[in-house]
Amino acid sequence: MGEAGRLAGDGEVGRSTRGGEAARPAGGGAAARSAGVGRSASVSEAGGPAGKAGVVKAGTGKPGAGKRGGGKSAGRGAHSSPGQRKSRGQGSRPERADPVRRAVFDVLLAVAKRGAYANLLLPSVLRERRLTGRDAALATELCYGTLRGQGTYDAILGVCSDRRITRMDPPVREVLRLGVHQLLATRIAAHAAVATSVDLAKDVAGVRPAGFVNAVLRRVSTRSLDDWMTVVAPDRRADPAGYLAVKHSYPSWIVTAFGQALGEIPPGGTAQGELAETEAALAAGNVGPKVTLCAIPGQSEAAELAAGPGSEPARWSPFGVYLGQGDPAAVPAVSQRRATVQDEASQLAALALARAEVTGSDRLWLDMCAGPGGKAALLAGLAAGRGAHLLAADARERRAALARDAIPGAGPADPDNKQAGGKQVGGKLAGGELAGGELADGELAGDELAGGEQAGGEQAHVALAVVADGTVPAWRPGAFDRVLADVPCSGLGSLRRRPEARWRRSAAQLAELGPLQRSLLGVALDSVRPGGVVAYVTCSPHLAETRDVLADVLGGEGGRPGGSARGGGREDVEVLDAPALLPEVADLSGREPYGKYVQFWPHRHQTDGIFLAVIRRLG
Ligand SMILES: C[S@@+](CC[C@H](N)C(=O)[O-])C[C@H]1O[C@@H](n2cnc3c(N)ncnc32)[C@H](O)[C@@H]1O
Repeated sequence: MGEAGRLAGDGEVGRSTRGGEAARPAGGGAAARSAGVGRSASVSEAGGPAGKAGVVKAGTGKPGAGKRGGGKSAGRGAHSSPGQRKSRGQGSRPERADPVRRAVFDVLLAVAKRGAYANLLLPSVLRERRLTGRDAALATELCYGTLRGQGTYDAILGVCSDRRITRMDPPVREVLRLGVHQLLATRIAAHAAVATSVDLAKDVAGVRPAGFVNAVLRRVSTRSLDDWMTVVAPDRRADPAGYLAVKHSYPSWIVTAFGQALGEIPPGGTAQGELAETEAALAAGNVGPKVTLCAIPGQSEAAELAAGPGSEPARWSPFGVYLGQGDPAAVPAVSQRRATVQDEASQLAALALARAEVTGSDRLWLDMCAGPGGKAALLAGLAAGRGAHLLAADARERRAALARDAIPGAGPADPDNKQAGGKQVGGKLAGGELAGGELADGELAGDELAGGEQAGGEQAHVALAVVADGTVPAWRPGAFDRVLADVPCSGLGSLRRRPEARWRRSAAQLAELGPLQRSLLGVALDSVRPGGVVAYVTCSPHLAETRDVLADVLGGEGGRPGGSARGGGREDVEVLDAPALLPEVADLSGREPYGKYVQFWPHRHQTDGIFLAVIRRLG
């Protein structure tokens, strides 16, 4: 699978991304300036599977977030206990660095060198090193803050060292970034920030590099963050996008993308003016989100989840609850898989699909990009309440397995499943039977799924998870009444929960995803019967992944902002008024350039930046 596959959103199931309290951001205020190296000093570093489908076998998946970032790939350094490690070049001398900063450093290095995901790796490192309470909160703040602020901090380091940041030894670079964050964005005293960084540098890089770290950080400490902006950021009036990129620590192409999605920067044009809302969106992306739970209908209720200490019902989603405190995995309904952790806008996107009116039957739903299963779990609960059934498909076996595990009671559990194409297929879906081997050969007997007679005494499921590439459908055209295409995307709408993601994405990767997104939407429209509905969803506000995909696939009027009743290019569809499906949500309608589409924003809705279009297939 290429870059497009790797960019596939991870969903939010089981994630905890709480910010810490111990080192609250100082709001750009001054760091203490006790160190006092002259501003003009320049410092040198001293050291230096297509067309097939298969049901996910019970027990074959490996759910859990640890493997990508917290398993082997997380790196030995990140998992060895402090007492076991030796200082570099220091023989058996015990480590000087305090355990919190050492843990943060190890995660930062794993992110930089091995592509680890901080939101997956950090919790496991904290657990292994038994860092809890205030220590864990401090580590979380320092780790996420350093990763988010990297662009700003590198710009400052660029003028405080005569060695380019890209040419520094990675451990030295990460110690410096962590040091700058402490100096300029927390209330940690400057002398403590410098001293702990020097200790850390001695442990991970050696004594001479520690001298370099000391000198550079002392220079950094001579100005506040705001003062540094006047030195390192472009003039706001001359280059507003460049200024915001440095100030809020984003690659400039993301600033431009947000500005265009918010209608403040013309497509293909130059940024001008204040870009006030773009700035608000960028700033919101630097604030850790609330942990939001989702009660799965028929399994739990929001009131049960809201009973926890400090928890409260979400503003709009009837299933949503903002978690007050603690680890969401410790909430009984979550550990019992009766509830999930899911952003509120994701819940609302699934709800909008379920609310859209269909003509005729409403028995069979498809989630064609289901892993890890956040929306599938909610859809399955909603479907069950109406006597409908859900097929949850994902091209990747591990992701399909996660979806199966997220959906209470999802199949298969039939030990007699047939083998086809190397995958186990078959199983019962509440009254119907998957077409065994045919499934792997590209044909799912849609009618039989919902319409067949239930085989007496056999276990049936409300939902079934299958491994299936949505671009090469394993089901009959027009088989479904409702289809969700929650396509792989850049994830630019969830940057606040993935602190390093902004540095891993590129505009070129977006271009790679475009054909896949268009193909999946096209298949989704073909998979729904006339009178049925499709929801196209991304966790990205980038117009190339949202409006432009709709415009290309629907063509004509249907694809234009505010698209008229009937698609011009594709005559068999109509774009529904998606904001009208979510009347309880403020500030969704009438915004250019979206028309009948919905774009959630962290700064407007305090949710992820989810995009939603709802389309009905016409007869
Ligand atoms: C944004 S995620 C879906 C999130 C999920 N709906 C949820 O709410 O938890 C996109 C998913 O699409 C899957 N995917 C990528 N290419 C696919 C394809 N060709 N067919 C089906 N699924 C695909 C990825 O494996 C990934 O799990």
